[in-house]
Amino acid sequence: MSEAGVARIRPASPDDYAAIRQVAVVTWAATYAGLIAPHTQRAFLARAYSDRWLARRHQRPGGRLVVAEIERQLVGYASSLERTFDAAELTSLYVLPAYQGRGIGSALLRHELAALAVRGIEFLLASVLRENHPARRFYERHGFQMVDEQTGSVLDQRIVEVVYGRRVKE
Ligand SMILES: CC(C)(COP(=O)(O)OP(=O)(O)OC[C@H]1O[C@@H](n2cnc3c(N)ncnc32)[C@H](O)[C@@H]1OP(=O)(O)O)[C@@H](O)C(=O)NCCC(=O)NCCS
Repeated sequence: MSEAGVARIRPASPDDYAAIRQVAVVTWAATYAGLIAPHTQRAFLARAYSDRWLARRHQRPGGRLVVAEIERQLVGYASSLERTFDAAELTSLYVLPAYQGRGIGSALLRHELAALAVRGIEFLLASVLRENHPARRFYERHGFQMVDEQTGSVLDQRIVEVVYGRRVKE
């Protein structure tokens, strides 16, 4: 466990799933307004953040899910997945809008990097919506470099993502 200001970073448990879902709903709405249609967000999150899917993401081999809490309120989370023997992907990083800009996202990222380093993982990838400029700046300030651009989809909506990568140990 580690501290970011007053935030505590710790591994998630199934008891956190409802609060993680709530952070996702609120943060997606603020982040992707004008980029992903509200009904698409709702439908996608209902499925991808159901207890069943959270448990799958969390408990599969090479999967990790950590949360940030302040005075027992869950304010952010991050997840990663080991894709190969030496590379992992940061599959999510979300901090409630009201708690952004206090170092919590950086603390979640540092926590993931430290855990992956212990596992012998050398590279970390992260995909970001091309138009999500604040998050892109965040990753670039944290040493990520753009390695690719790819098209994907959120349900029936086409999206373009920028893929960033960095070495786990700098
Ligand atoms: C991107 C995101 C995860 C970053 O998390 P965050 O908690 O806002 O980020 P931080 O506070 O660690 O860092 C952002 C800035 O806040 C400021 N900051 C950092 N620590 C601070 C502190 N202790 N006090 C005040 N400000 C601080 C800095 O200006 C920092 O900029 P820097 O990178 O130049 O240092 C968060 O903004 C978020 O959830 N965004 C919406 C969802 C999203 O886009 N996720 C990523 C795509 S998957």
